[in-house]
Amino acid sequence: SRELLDAGAGKPAKLAVIGHPIAHSASPKMHQAALDAFGMDLRYIRLDIEPGQVGEAFSRMRALGFIGCNVTVPHKLEAMENCEVHPDAMALGAVNTIRFDQDATRGFNTDGPGFEQAVRNEFEVELSSLATAIFGAGGGAGQAIATQACLRGIARLLLVNRTAEKLGPLVERLRLISPRTEITAISFGDPQLAGHCLGSDLIVNTSSVGLKADDPSILPVNCLRKDHLVYDTIYQPAVTPLLALANAAGCRTTNGLSMLINQGALAFQHWFPGTEPLPHMTRALRAE
Ligand code: ATR
Repeated sequence: SRELLDAGAGKPAKLAVIGHPIAHSASPKMHQAALDAFGMDLRYIRLDIEPGQVGEAFSRMRALGFIGCNVTVPHKLEAMENCEVHPDAMALGAVNTIRFDQDATRGFNTDGPGFEQAVRNEFEVELSSLATAIFGAGGGAGQAIATQACLRGIARLLLVNRTAEKLGPLVERLRLISPRTEITAISFGDPQLAGHCLGSDLIVNTSSVGLKADDPSILPVNCLRKDHLVYDTIYQPAVTPLLALANAAGCRTTNGLSMLINQGALAFQHWFPGTEPLPHMTRALRAE
């Protein structure tokens, strides 16, 4: 990624993504593209921060006049302890975007809202209107999407996880956010799985199944019907086994690139309100 390092060379670093490890983050590429497109004389860098050092990193960035940063694995929880957390990010229990304001360090989460906007852009429908089934709901992305769905008060939510017991605390949290949402939490082996799936409008894979070349589809073909909307949060490969199966079944499908880009665009807008970075970020990542 020589080209990446050179992208903002010579400009002052005022934005960053922090994580550990951080080498493979796509964030610098899309944020630098937007900064450059708007003629902003700023550089977005990656910072490898050790666990336990997040507060210190924030202090240093503040001292250097940073505008903000993105926060990725494994720091999304530790970041919360070192900022003023927005209520929606508090409901989710994780922060992915920091803004260094004069009076405070503020934390937001754009993963859930990024997914909601991706659904709107790709499927031309509101998440709030869709009975949603989430596969791999125990992971970080699954929790972000489930939380967003409940913040929007969706009518029905199906959570599926290999280990269903893991879902207990999540379900409790979701019930507090949206008491009227009908929430079902099951494991893959549940005999009701197909029935519950067929009763959903939107199928989402948030598990890591599909990343590896020989992975199977996360859900069996008898769980799909052709008017399902199918979203896979994986974007490499662009067509996962689930998406291939869903395409063959005649479903409308899309991969996780739109969520990645939209969460990035929403973060950028926390730093620079009123801008429209989405097209620039889309071009930067789709050009790969
Ligand atoms: P994150 O980084 O998003 O938190 P994770 O903790 O690795 O991701 O988990 C992602 C999801 O993929 C989890 O729901 C995990 O299921 P478990 O909670 O049962 O571990 C799911 N997952 C990973 N490998 C899986 C597999 N082979 N079959 C089914 N689900 C799997």
